[in-house]
Amino acid sequence: MDHFLYKSGQLHAEDVPLAEIAASVGTPFYCYSAATLTRHFRLFDEALAGVDHLVCYAMKANSNLAVLKLLADLGAGMDVVSGGEYRRARAAGVPGERIVFSGVGKTRDEMRLALEGGIRQFNVESEPEMEALNDVALALGTVAPITVRVNPDVDAKTHEKIATGRKEDKFGIPISRAREVYAHAARLPGLKVIGIDVHIGSQLTDLAPFEAAYAKVADLTAQLRADGHEISRLDLGGGLGIPYERSNADPPLPSDYGAMVQRVLGDLGCEIEIEPGRLIAGNAGVLVTEVIYLKEGEEREFLIVDAAMNDLVRPAMYGAHHDIVPLDEAAPGAETHLYDIVGPVCESGDTFAKRRALSALAAGDLIAFRSAGAYGAVMASEYNSRPLIPEVLVSGDQFAVIRARPTFDEMLNRDTIPEWL
Ligand code: LLP
Repeated sequence: MDHFLYKSGQLHAEDVPLAEIAASVGTPFYCYSAATLTRHFRLFDEALAGVDHLVCYAMKANSNLAVLKLLADLGAGMDVVSGGEYRRARAAGVPGERIVFSGVGKTRDEMRLALEGGIRQFNVESEPEMEALNDVALALGTVAPITVRVNPDVDAKTHEKIATGRKEDKFGIPISRAREVYAHAARLPGLKVIGIDVHIGSQLTDLAPFEAAYAKVADLTAQLRADGHEISRLDLGGGLGIPYERSNADPPLPSDYGAMVQRVLGDLGCEIEIEPGRLIAGNAGVLVTEVIYLKEGEEREFLIVDAAMNDLVRPAMYGAHHDIVPLDEAAPGAETHLYDIVGPVCESGDTFAKRRALSALAAGDLIAFRSAGAYGAVMASEYNSRPLIPEVLVSGDQFAVIRARPTFDEMLNRDTIPEWL
């Protein structure tokens, strides 16, 4: 459930009509619901209530400082994958001991930043990275807490570009080599092994691949303990999928996921960390855009809107589906048209949906792409010199711009023409 509902025929974010925000900030824009973010975080937190746990929000999904502050105030930790994300988490007030550092290519500068600023753990993904972290920690006279990310060779049965737990993927170390790699880590005085990390992919709509991976982690915990390692923390990654199409069957709920986690791993005496991103932020956001033109093609009706692939790249990049709804609710039984909904960028890939059934729309009408709160604004670019679009947060009957649209002067001033040109 989210908080984007029609009230008196107008699509609202909580108690604010989206059209009112459009009139105030202009289109296109992202709008997030604080109540939905809160609800989704709590679902995970409550799903693991039976075990010692920390929900580390995967902030790559949506890293606006206001979103981070809201979640941090609820007790969330953060999963960061870059020095930039680490800085954002700290700027939002997240203490270092609630930040885990993931990612396959952490640089020495990033390691130093986190070791100096405070860090809960590094999820290390390779032996060269282990050696580098050991060097950096020793140079700072400290010890880096680590888990090793294992690749369990489980097919997450999700989109090719977001599956990460098969042996052909670049992530983690093969689980078959785990004992060797942990022995290596234990020999490095700048590292302290505290647990195991696993993440098999994103937008999983079935619990079975998670369970297969977690069962392997349970076995590995026993083996590594027998080898003399301290395994007191299990980081289980993120990946639980969300309903992108209201017409499809719903994926498992956080409560189902949490029950499975506790069944498979609950009696190992380990602290459990999870790193959900999409489920917390995805359906907590919409992108609102205006129809610029209705263009009658030879075989198609095109709705040309003022948002484009640079603002929301998921359809172009993954063929992703986003439900599209008009801000003015369609009358019951209203005739529908099959529209191709496209942006203004000069690429055929700049297509949000093909032959989508919607009530009749005209230039000037406003529509919303649902499920755009995760991997939307964060993946945006200024392609075609289109300014990044604003982000707005709603809570009850109030709203605030949490990232303003840049001015063209700001955009131009970032470039420099050398004096010798
Ligand atoms: N932990 C790690 C180590 C990850 O790599 C990811 C996502 C997550 C947690 C969070 O997964 P989530 O709960 O959000 O599924 N841009 C793509 C998604 C990329 C996901 C990358 N890693 C998309 O728009 O679908």
